[in-house]
Amino acid sequence: MQSNDYQSEQASNSSQLQTWFDAQQDEIEVAYLSSKNSYQQSGWGSTPERWQFARKLILKAVNKSGTFLDLGCANGLLLECLMQWAGEQGFYLTPYGVDISLQLVELARKRLPAFATNLVVANAFTLQTPMQYDFVHTLLEYVPENLHLEYLRRLLEQLVAPAGRLIVSSYSSRSRGIIPLDIETYLRQLGFTVEGSVIAQEVDGWILTRVAWIEKVL
Ligand SMILES: C[S@@+](CC[C@H](N)C(=O)[O-])C[C@H]1O[C@@H](n2cnc3c(N)ncnc32)[C@H](O)[C@@H]1O
Repeated sequence: MQSNDYQSEQASNSSQLQTWFDAQQDEIEVAYLSSKNSYQQSGWGSTPERWQFARKLILKAVNKSGTFLDLGCANGLLLECLMQWAGEQGFYLTPYGVDISLQLVELARKRLPAFATNLVVANAFTLQTPMQYDFVHTLLEYVPENLHLEYLRRLLEQLVAPAGRLIVSSYSSRSRGIIPLDIETYLRQLGFTVEGSVIAQEVDGWILTRVAWIEKVL
């Protein structure tokens, strides 16, 4: 391929990718910001009790006090809850969050005013930060499937502190019939060493959440 052809293909790929991110953002803003309900503004459509059951297990990946970056933090509800739940277990988490939506980040700053400067508008895929974090939490749907490996490698290399953990979650939706991805198996297939994993499963067997984590070796 001629170098000009290559450059124009890259440009077209990057504009397609931007279109993909824009569409995701539009869809999320319509769904999350149509309500004043804090849970809905974090993409949750059920009860607070089920939210706790579906999210608290993320803390199984937290083995010490430290900095916690939630990629796709929405209105900051998960960060707020994790800080509280971690505190009950004797850990102190300093929250950091990133979201592609300015309106959601503004809500997160209102929720966590003491940490407003830790909450920024950015695309998780291209995010660059001046520091690294003990815990970095992400979902995979933030990037197209063909970029999962590149995305996760970037997070691990650039954002996770030495001896820190990259935590990957997948959520189901009962109302939409969506089952969570088997994150542990998927990460292994991509070539990562999985340090631990956990699931939140309801009494009838329905899996609400799958979480797996990778440790960044020193
Ligand atoms: C399901 S919510 C997750 C909320 C919370 N982190 C949790 O796990 O419960 C997904 C959030 O990710 C944001 N998001 C989607 N793609 C993103 C991207 N590429 N970069 C940053 N944020 C993104 C959306 O705007 C939305 O607020």
